[in-house]
Amino acid sequence: MRVVLVGANGMLGTDLKEACAREGVDAPALDLPDVDITRPERLQRDLPEADWIINCAAYTRVDDAETDRETCFAVNAEGPRNLARLCAKRGIPLLHISTDYVFDGTKNTPYQEDDPTHALSVYGESKLAGERAIQDAGCPYIIARTQSLFGLHGPSFIKSIMRFITEGKVPLKVVQDQVSCPTWSGHLADALLRLVHTEHRGIVHTSSEGACSWFDFARAIVDRVQPGVEVLPVPASIYPRPARRPANSVLDKTRYAQWTAHRFPSWQEGLDAYLEALNHTSPI
Ligand SMILES: NC(=O)c1ccc[n+]([C@@H]2O[C@H](COP(=O)([O-])OP(=O)(O)OC[C@H]3O[C@@H](n4cnc5c(N)ncnc54)[C@H](OP(=O)(O)O)[C@@H]3O)[C@@H](O)[C@H]2O)c1
Repeated sequence: MRVVLVGANGMLGTDLKEACAREGVDAPALDLPDVDITRPERLQRDLPEADWIINCAAYTRVDDAETDRETCFAVNAEGPRNLARLCAKRGIPLLHISTDYVFDGTKNTPYQEDDPTHALSVYGESKLAGERAIQDAGCPYIIARTQSLFGLHGPSFIKSIMRFITEGKVPLKVVQDQVSCPTWSGHLADALLRLVHTEHRGIVHTSSEGACSWFDFARAIVDRVQPGVEVLPVPASIYPRPARRPANSVLDKTRYAQWTAHRFPSWQEGLDAYLEALNHTSPI
C-alpha cells in the first residue's frame, strides 16, 4: 500500500511517518514549502500517485484564527476541498483529520458522529467547512475527528505542566470545567493506519477512551512525574482566551471500535505511552 502524507512535518504527521515506517507502508511525506494545499493548480504535479492521501496539514493556532480568518479558512476549508477534488479525479480515498471543535460542548453525553454540529470558534468553523467541502467533492473519504492531542513533536499540555513544575510555578492552577479525551498522537497514528485498512467510509471519532478535565489530566501527570506537587482546580474563566472552547466535547468511539474491531487506548494509557516515549528521547 502507498499512502501520501500531507502536513507530514507537524505533530501528528511526524508520528504517522514513524507508524508507516514501522508497518512497512510506503509513505511519501510532504509538507510546506514543497506542497501547499491552498494551491490547487500545483497539487496534481506535486502529489505522487498513491492508494490514499492522508491530510494532516492544517492551520492549528486556534486563538490566532480569531483574527486571521482568511488564512485559517484557506488552509482548513479550501485545502481539504482541493485535496478531495484531486482524490475524486484520481478515484482514490482521502483520510482527513478533523476536530471536536465542530461541536459546542453543550451535550451531556459523548458526541456521536451524526450529532448536530455548532462550532464556537473560527478554527472550529473552518474545520467544519473542510468536512463539508470533502463531502461535496465526490471522493471516497474518511474524516477522523480527534481532540486534545499531545505528542512528542509539538507543543503539548504535558510539556507545559512539566515546565511549570521545573520553573517552580506551583501550586499549579488548572481548568476543571472543560472535559475532553486527551489523545496521544502516537495512538492516533496507529488508529489512522487501522482505518485505511478497512472498507468503511464516512466520519469516525478517534480519540482516547475515557474522559477527564484538564485538572484531572494535570493531576495524573503530576502523579507520574513529580508526586506531591499541589494542583488546584480553577474555572476556565480565569484564563480568558480569544477563541471559545467547548466545555464538554467527549467523542463517542463506538463506530471506531465497530469499524476496526479495536478499542482506542484510554487517555491514561496514552499518557503512560507518551512518557515512556519521552524517556527514550532527549530532555525537553
Ligand atoms: N493538536 C490538537 O490538539 C488537535 C486536536 C484536534 C484536531 N487536530 C487536527 O489534527 C491534525 C493534525 O494536527 P497537528 O497538531 O499535528 O498540527 P500541526 O502540528 O500544526 O501540523 C500541521 C502541519 O501542516 C502544515 N501546513 C500548514 N499549512 C499548510 C499548507 N497550506 N499546505 C501544506 N501543509 C501545511 C504545517 O506546516 P507549518 O508548521 O510550516 O505551518 C504543519 O507541518 C489537524 O487537522 C488538526 O486540525 C489537532
